[in-house]
Parts: sequence; structure tokens; C-alpha cells
Amino acid sequence: MAARDHAPESPDVLGAATKTARIRRLRKKLLDWYDVHQRDLPWRKSRDPYAIWISETMLQQTRVETVIPYYNRFLSRFPDIESLAAADRDQVFALWSGLGYYSRADNLHRAARMMVDEFEKRVPDEAEELRKLPGVGRYTAGAVASIAFDRPEAVLDGNVIRVLTRVLDLGADVSRKVVIERLWQEAAAFARGPRPGDMNQALMEFGATVCTPRAPACETRCPLARMCHGRRAGRVDLLPNKPAKRKPRVVDAVTVWLPRGNTILALQRPETGLLANLWELPSCELEKNQEPKDHVSSLIEEVTGLAIVNPIQVGTVEHVFTHIVMHLHVFRCSSAVGRLRRGNERNDQKHRWVKPDRFTRLPIATLTRRVLELLL
Ligand code: ADE
Repeated sequence: MAARDHAPESPDVLGAATKTARIRRLRKKLLDWYDVHQRDLPWRKSRDPYAIWISETMLQQTRVETVIPYYNRFLSRFPDIESLAAADRDQVFALWSGLGYYSRADNLHRAARMMVDEFEKRVPDEAEELRKLPGVGRYTAGAVASIAFDRPEAVLDGNVIRVLTRVLDLGADVSRKVVIERLWQEAAAFARGPRPGDMNQALMEFGATVCTPRAPACETRCPLARMCHGRRAGRVDLLPNKPAKRKPRVVDAVTVWLPRGNTILALQRPETGLLANLWELPSCELEKNQEPKDHVSSLIEEVTGLAIVNPIQVGTVEHVFTHIVMHLHVFRCSSAVGRLRRGNERNDQKHRWVKPDRFTRLPIATLTRRVLELLL
């Protein structure tokens, strides 16, 4: 596309009426852009509030391309509120396996039950009611109310924050609560007017594909370029202003393939904390400076009561969680002796002896899938 004419916009000090007119123009440009450039995504083919709620829950903290196959599988298996409410929790987790942030699956399941019991088997159509559901915060309530029910409710996610701080040239630190509140108010101004659901999706889509964190397409593809105060100030690359992230903590742990006959031991993780309720091979964190091979036997005995025979290290899987980099040292052993018992801290966990090729049918995290790939 040809470069645009970048004549600057008129004065900086905008009165309320000027501001409203400016937002109306920004809205129109974004909606026109969205009508031509929106991606063909499965949830956009549906006006079913249930499907939109599932998609918006999956899209929290997860990229669109990752979500698509999960969304399709989930909707085929649980096409409506009642089928999800009636499902076994393990089935819901199994369909979530690999998507991360597993509390979302648990919340969806509980929310579906609540809709059956308290909302006449319907997704509530007001943001305030939606927020009574587990896992539904301000973002999801705004997304579902606007996209499924045409309510003038705002959304604010990382993409919208980036677009708004740039268009408005807002350089304040976005980790501060007051700044985020101000941005919610700005986003609300965009949601007022025709097609609020499309408007919200346009803001998110525009942030994901044009107004990107690195190398935004200001000079080639941006329909807002002439109206963008951040661009005029030459500060687009500095916005949004986020303080540097803390370094993630490195955690070392051991895990072991522990056979009995033609099965191996699977343990369910505790109900709270990292990867809650998911299944894994027996595992234990190492303390600082502990050598994996020197401590694997005693640690696995603490966790299971079993003394493993002849442990051999197979490799290490590195996996990055939000605040943790996990180095999981993977062992095989030939057998184990003793009586299975669970350590004190983790004795709420269930166990199963499973055939190795059946392990992946249990609800497991991507980390465990990678460990199994290494071992199989
Ligand atoms: N991110 C979260 N929800 C979205 C949607 N409906 N469209 C585009 N990006 C999104």
C-alpha cells in the first residue's frame, strides 16, 4: 500500500465535544478496517453466547492460533451449557490439556453448572450478572456482553492497552491501578455507539495484527496513523510504558518413570497451586545445589514410599511457566520396592497404575507430555 499523507491533526487541548468527535472518527476508521481485515475465526461464525463465552475464556492469556483447535474440539464435545455441566471434570480437563492456565477449565465447568442451577440454562446477558460466574472477570464479562448481546461494555486486554496508550500518547506506567482504570474509561468510550461487540473485537484485532508490540505497521497499514498522538510524538515504540519484568525463578526438580508390570505410576497433583489436579509422573522439587542423581531416590521415596531401583537419567526438560523456569530432570528406574504411600504434604493426591500409552488420556500438562515424549 502507498505511504499515507501524514499531515498532523489540529490542537492538543481537546474539549469534551472535540474528544467525542475524535472518538467517533477513530471508531469509524477501526470498524471500516475491521470489516475488511478481520480474520476468519471459528467463533466469529457464531452468535451463540455459550460459544462466545468459551472462546473468550480460552483467549485469556492464549494466542488466537493456539486456541482454534482447542475451541473446535471443545465445542464438538460440549456443544452447549447442559452438556458441559453434565460432564465429568476429568473429561473437561482432558480437552484442556496443553492449553495452560488450568483453573480456567475448572471455572468453565463450575460456571456451566451455575448457569443450569441459577440462570435458567442460559448465559446471562448483562455484564454484572456474568461477573457472578466463576472465572468471569471484567474483561470476559465485557467481551461476552458486547459480542453476544450487543451491550455497550468495554474490554481491556494487552492489545487494547497498547492501541489506546499509543493513540492517546498516554505515557503513564500501565502497571499502576489508576492508569488501568483510566484506560478502562477510555475503552468504555469506544464501546458506546453502534456495534459495540465488533468495536471491541476490532480494537483487539488491530492490536494483534497492525499495532503490534514490535515493528507496528504505522507507515504502511495503519488507518489511524494521522490521528495517532503517540506517532506524532515519535513515541510509539515506547508505549505502553511497562516497568521491566522480574526475572523468573529457576526451579530444578526430578521425575521418574516408575514401572510395575506393564504399567507405570501416575499421580494427581494437589487441588491448588501450579498445574492443580493434573496428572504427572512421580516428581519432587530439588533444593538449591542438590544434584539430581544423588537425591532422586530419597525424594521419590518421600513422595511415594517406594524405593526405586537403579535410576538412570534420561534427559532434562526445560519448561517456562509465567514466573518459573522449570528444569525437570527425567529418570527411568527398573522397578521399585516397598509399599505405596503418599507423603504428608501431598497425601490428598490420587494415584493410578496406567499403561504408558494410556497416560496421555489423563488430563496432563504440556510439561508432562514432553516428559513422556522423551521417555517413549
Ligand atoms: N482476543 C480475545 N478475544 C478476541 C476476539 N474476540 N477477537 C480478537 N482477539 C481477541
